[in-house]
Amino acid sequence: MPFALNQIDAELVTLDRELLRRSIRSVDTPCGTEIQIGGKSLLAFCSNDYLGLANHPELIAALSEGAKRFGTGSGASHLISGHHAIHDELEAKLALTQAGAIPHARALFFSTGYLANISAITALSLIGEKTSIYSAALNHASLIDGIRLAKAQTSIEVHVFNHHHLAELEEVLSHDTAPNKLIVTDGVFSMDGDLAPVQELLRLANQYDALLMIDDAHGFGVLGKHGYGILEDQTICSDRIIYIGTLGKAAGLNGAFVCAHEKIIAWLIQKARPYIYSTASSPALAFAVLRSIALIEGNLGQELRARLQANITLWKKGSTFNRWNRLKSDTAIQPIVVGSNETALQLARALDQLGYWIPAIRPPTVPKGMARLRMTLSAAHTTEQIQGLCKVLSDLETSLPKS
Ligand SMILES: Cc1ncc(COP(=O)(O)O)c(C=O)c1O
Repeated sequence: MPFALNQIDAELVTLDRELLRRSIRSVDTPCGTEIQIGGKSLLAFCSNDYLGLANHPELIAALSEGAKRFGTGSGASHLISGHHAIHDELEAKLALTQAGAIPHARALFFSTGYLANISAITALSLIGEKTSIYSAALNHASLIDGIRLAKAQTSIEVHVFNHHHLAELEEVLSHDTAPNKLIVTDGVFSMDGDLAPVQELLRLANQYDALLMIDDAHGFGVLGKHGYGILEDQTICSDRIIYIGTLGKAAGLNGAFVCAHEKIIAWLIQKARPYIYSTASSPALAFAVLRSIALIEGNLGQELRARLQANITLWKKGSTFNRWNRLKSDTAIQPIVVGSNETALQLARALDQLGYWIPAIRPPTVPKGMARLRMTLSAAHTTEQIQGLCKVLSDLETSLPKS
């Protein structure tokens, strides 16, 4: 047997022992709050389908209509022959969603948020002679990986600043002589649910001539009157902002976009290797995303955001714990930090037996000793479902043996 196969066996055993081994569960039904896995019914509180659009009849119809009109595949990367007119139409619409926040906004459509993030960071780190990147400590893995790749391709300085520690960030920024500085942050922190202090970050970006990249994967569709995300919500505007929105969460499809000043987008088209060397996503998808944005910004979107907000309020009122720490979050991401991997797994298993699906999130996704249940709410959850979960968790808090 090759060395690698034996070694993998040994390393998987270690992961098992440390309760860190990940596994895949296959869902038999469409994305929704009530799902089935292997014949078992579960109430899901873990998807990012915040508005309940992932199985919406209008989007199902749009994706089928898109496939009929444009075919199923793009056929090539964007810069060869895979960029269709419907991609242009979508990008123009995506840019309009951020036009109030980014002067001369232009958008570029990507097949995933992961690719959008590594593309933007690697391309932006190539501007000028020397780049410093300032990264928020709890940033998503795709931002961290983008920085790692940037480091592999050119000489850059990386500074990680602690969660919400702006004084620490400013201290380093104020002594930085690198001409190109990039501050990178999640908009809504994906494992904690709190918002980045984007106003203050922009103030620092202005003061120290930096760019500010905001990954709003969990804000687009959810935050702001029209669902345009954190920039609309916080009414900020600057040509220093590079905005990343994803389309696989609240928008109910998949894909992502980078929106920034048109010169930044022109640079990405030249330098973002994951954009240049990857097949463009299907034009049918672009067509369906256009429909999703119309739903998000219209009356239905406003209604769904109001329902989601009501569900968040209901959950916060109904869930108080002594043994566990429900993090302070006003968004749909409502984590319950329990500490050890063992407790997180034990709680997730107990919930599973009672018909609830909330997976345990363990290191390295979250810091060591901060294992948690990452609970997410959707506009599609009913009052009864949320109240039921609150009751079940309250009972488990007293009945679950201490690990
Ligand atoms: C904050 C954040 N950024 C980026 C991504 C990646 O987006 P995508 O799933 O579209 O690759 C995710 C989650 O998947 C995320 O939570």
